[in-house]
Amino acid sequence: MNSNAIFASRGFLPAEDPLVRFGDDSVFAPLDEWGDNLPSLLEDPGFRSYARGLRIPPLPDRDPALPMLQLYYVRLGFLASAYIHQVGMEPVKLLPANLAVPLCDVCTRLGRPPILSYDGYALFNWKRFNSAEPIMLGNIDTIQNFVKLYDEHWFILVHVEIEAIAARLLSAILDAETAVVAVDRPALDAAMRRVVQAVWEQVRVLRRIPEKMDPALYYKTFRPYIRFFEEVIYEGVGITPIDHRGETGAQSSVIPALVAFLKIPHKPTRLTDHLEDMRRYMPAEHRAFLKRVEAMPSVRELVDSTLFNDALEALATFRETHLGFAREYISRWVEDPRGTGGTPYLEWLDQLIAETRDFKFV
Ligand code: HEM
Repeated sequence: MNSNAIFASRGFLPAEDPLVRFGDDSVFAPLDEWGDNLPSLLEDPGFRSYARGLRIPPLPDRDPALPMLQLYYVRLGFLASAYIHQVGMEPVKLLPANLAVPLCDVCTRLGRPPILSYDGYALFNWKRFNSAEPIMLGNIDTIQNFVKLYDEHWFILVHVEIEAIAARLLSAILDAETAVVAVDRPALDAAMRRVVQAVWEQVRVLRRIPEKMDPALYYKTFRPYIRFFEEVIYEGVGITPIDHRGETGAQSSVIPALVAFLKIPHKPTRLTDHLEDMRRYMPAEHRAFLKRVEAMPSVRELVDSTLFNDALEALATFRETHLGFAREYISRWVEDPRGTGGTPYLEWLDQLIAETRDFKFV
């Protein structure tokens, strides 16, 4: 499949369903076992000393196949964030060499910063129960978790279904690109109609968050693990303390693709700088896709204005629903709410909603 076909059929999910295990015969088999045991290991105050004793099998000089590299990154990324942020213990500032060296190695090979990001937490972290059925809630589960609670599975899996729906969104954006270049208005309207349907479908799935995810459990039990790294030294790699952003949906390419397609003029602020910075944590091919959509001619002047408004309304509703969850799941628990990326997010999530609606035709 060429890259257009992959984006149109898989969105930003991997071209094939993620590798679930290295398998018993693999030299990496211990990583599966430690990964399976991680939620139980984290219940024990001795986890960090156990983790320091792990002998992580190194990657061979020649890169293994991509799904294997991605699973290696998922396992190491979880172990490293678990080590730094173990719940019930004070966060630490030193990632020991046995974890830091292989994590940095796999992340260099994947061209990304050495921390668990949205790709490792969600995009590469799911499996289907029935491979003949769609990638949707009810047919998917996670591969790796920090905690035993199903709430964490649900949090991840809602993202995964939203990403799966994005295949329809990207397919429509690619068709719109052809239509706008050919100045084919009926084809552009048809593509925009599919964009609108896909985004409303994503809103429907996003609204399912509270079904199986308790705000207090999220905030207290698994959110701490996806927090940012602040002045962490990667032992055996360097001596300078480094900051890295934590996992956040802001590292998903779905909403940025839509914003780029509709060319919504978000005022540059410290807040949009943050979103731009989140791109460093996206896989390189997703970043390239976003650049391509940004370079597309505007559809606003050619497309039916009601459809254009419908697309903006669907996105604004997605963002509004999302802001409601940010309030419910984070800000009611703290005085100075900060995103896992370390941002004062409430103020600017609100601004993004207003700017989305302000771009409508009146
Ligand atoms: C209870 C569930 C959720 C909570 C508490 C939450 C929280 C947050 C927070 C605090 C931010 C601020 C940015 C940062 O910290 O870096 C953010 C940004 C973002 N999140 Fe979520 N999130 C949730 C679910 C989701 C889901 C399911 C998606 C779907 C992909 C998503 C997509 C985004 C996007 C795209 C942004 C960037 C803002 C924008 O462009 O509108 N989030 N989220």
